[in-house]
Amino acid sequence: MRTLFTGISELRTVSEQGTIKDAFLLIDGPVIHSLGPAADRPSDAEVDEVVDLGGRAVLPGWVDSHTHMVFDGNRAEEFEARMAGESYAAGGIAVTMEATRSAGEERLDQLVRERIAAGHAGGTTCFETKTGYGLNVESEAEAARVAARHADEVTFLGAHLVPPGADAEEYVELVVGPMLDAVKDHAQWIDVFCERGAFNEEQSRRVLEAGKAAGLGVRVHGNQLGEGPGVALAVEMGAASVDHVNYITDEDVALLAGSDTVATLLPACDLSTREDLAPARRLVDAGARIAIASNLNPGTSFTSSMNFCVTTAVLQQYLTLDEAIEAATAGGAFALRRHDAGGGKDPQGRPAKGTIVPGAAADLHVLDAENAINLAYRPGMPITWQTWVAGEKVHG
Ligand code: NIG
Repeated sequence: MRTLFTGISELRTVSEQGTIKDAFLLIDGPVIHSLGPAADRPSDAEVDEVVDLGGRAVLPGWVDSHTHMVFDGNRAEEFEARMAGESYAAGGIAVTMEATRSAGEERLDQLVRERIAAGHAGGTTCFETKTGYGLNVESEAEAARVAARHADEVTFLGAHLVPPGADAEEYVELVVGPMLDAVKDHAQWIDVFCERGAFNEEQSRRVLEAGKAAGLGVRVHGNQLGEGPGVALAVEMGAASVDHVNYITDEDVALLAGSDTVATLLPACDLSTREDLAPARRLVDAGARIAIASNLNPGTSFTSSMNFCVTTAVLQQYLTLDEAIEAATAGGAFALRRHDAGGGKDPQGRPAKGTIVPGAAADLHVLDAENAINLAYRPGMPITWQTWVAGEKVHG
């Protein structure tokens, strides 16, 4: 099935081809076939279907590389107290743990399905999600199964918090032993919340090493609530990403700039926890790779709106529009190692995410605007017109 898109006012390829004004785009089933100036478009007779976008901007679908979608319940009261001056503490995770443990697999499945649909409605086409609200073998395995049915990438986060009443050392042994065994076939990644009040450096290293030995890639939650060992550990372990990075030293920045570890910014979380926004400009100016993600979860970021995150990154973190779009598309894809490693294919030979080049996934975000700058120029306005995943329209 060859579908030709016409009426594209601005095609942001997020590739060497940059932005093409007045463009055409041809997809062939689930992948991008070709693109270029409208003057070079194929004729109607050469394609199966023509979709006229009526002068709208097209960009790659957002790649949301950090979410915690498998949960039940909410923490609205905790949030309201925070807005009245309380500070964020990781202990709230235990509240969500209780709700998630008692939800049942069918309900979790339904909740995640709805959250993916909401993501699609906001232009997201690729989702990572984590376990981490089960915190025992049975519930972590359940969360991993649910995640694997819906998300593109699944991360095992048994090491999110030591559950109330458990001994930290014994819990780490559980995570690296029976829990890892129970989830590893459903996950591609292992993660740890390396932070004061969660897991220390030595415990975090043990968790990541066990995951690596089991064949999982490594990611780290680090430097969210204060300076600490998260970034250095992530770089040392060859992590694909270290996420949050609110409190980083010049040494951390230099380590990131000299590595393939992506610094993932979570602006909605920073606002919802009233932390200073992560130093996006400092990271980019130093040459570090960045991604922007939603961090959808009930504690620190109850939103899946990547549009909001990109808007915030431009308006409040001083990124240019190009930088913010790249971070939320190709940057997220790199953080998941689903980026274009050549010929539109990712390192595993699958159609790449987060870019519009021949061979890449036909994952598109059509804006109800002539130019993508409207994401920041008209903040908060409804801007997602259509969303396409692997050549199928999933929204609009
Ligand atoms: O990424 N920082 C750790 N984990 C989540 C928050 C989890 C929660 O409070 O429920 C985060 O912000």
